[in-house]
Amino acid sequence: MKIAVSGKGGSGKTLFSASLAIILSKKNKVYAIDADPDGNLGLTLGFEKHQLDSLTPISELKDLINERTGVSSNRTGFYILNPEVSDVPEKYSLHQGNLYFLLLGTLKKASSGCYCPENTFLKRLISHLVLERDEVVVIDLPAGIEVLTRGSAKNVDVLFIMVEPTMKSLQTALRIEVLAKELEIPNIVFIGNKIVVQQDIEFINHHLKKEIIYSIPFDKTLQKFEQQKVHLFETDFFHQVEKIISFVEIKLN
Ligand SMILES: Nc1ncnc2c1ncn2[C@@H]1O[C@H](COP(=O)(O)OP(=O)(O)OP(=O)(O)O)[C@@H](O)[C@H]1O
Ligand SMILES: [Mg+2]
Repeated sequence: MKIAVSGKGGSGKTLFSASLAIILSKKNKVYAIDADPDGNLGLTLGFEKHQLDSLTPISELKDLINERTGVSSNRTGFYILNPEVSDVPEKYSLHQGNLYFLLLGTLKKASSGCYCPENTFLKRLISHLVLERDEVVVIDLPAGIEVLTRGSAKNVDVLFIMVEPTMKSLQTALRIEVLAKELEIPNIVFIGNKIVVQQDIEFINHHLKKEIIYSIPFDKTLQKFEQQKVHLFETDFFHQVEKIISFVEIKLN
């Protein structure tokens, strides 16, 4: 199963991704990938601060990227477009049991062309994990989903778009849907989040022009999680994600 999660800032992407990764790691090896430059997936998954502090984002592994893309061995400005990455997921991740955490780092803006080897490397790594490996992959994406190439997007089983019942969140969700359709992601599933009353769902449905199937209530127990007083799996949010993924798994099979 290859899963991507996107949505506006603050919509619940990281909590949703972390919950999915933890749930799926009970039975499978899972790569949880933080592809949000401003992300905190590692902390949400429960990795220790000192472990995370010692982890270099993949995009900043300059020597490795230069070596694998062939930049260091020539001065022509050309580089290898399909660098070898098969050892990277194991070597440059943190793990607890079955759950592996990869910190991707920032995709460089296309305008700063000279940084392209980094982007090529990151996109190749995602393609490798999505297309060439058997492990479960959960990607916490920013609202821009550019790290997915057309090839990897087509092979993502499902993109979850998190959406809060606010106009701004809906506008971003709709923009992501357009990008996702351009990339031909086969299944796009909206998740209504922070739902307080039935009207919130109606508000979302109205603006998306479709009926969302899955939604997560506003969860006061998350406050305690954010204050590191309880584990993620003790929150109502987590139990909602358990239900959602079991339905989605049935649908995909
Ligand atoms: N269902 C919910 N009920 C209450 N609070 C929630 C709910 N879902 C998420 N939150 C809260 O909203 C905030 C943002 O959640 P999260 O970090 O998962 O979102 P995000 O989309 O990854 O944000 P960012 O764009 O900053 O990475 C957190 O403080 C979280 O506790
Ligand atoms: Mg986040």
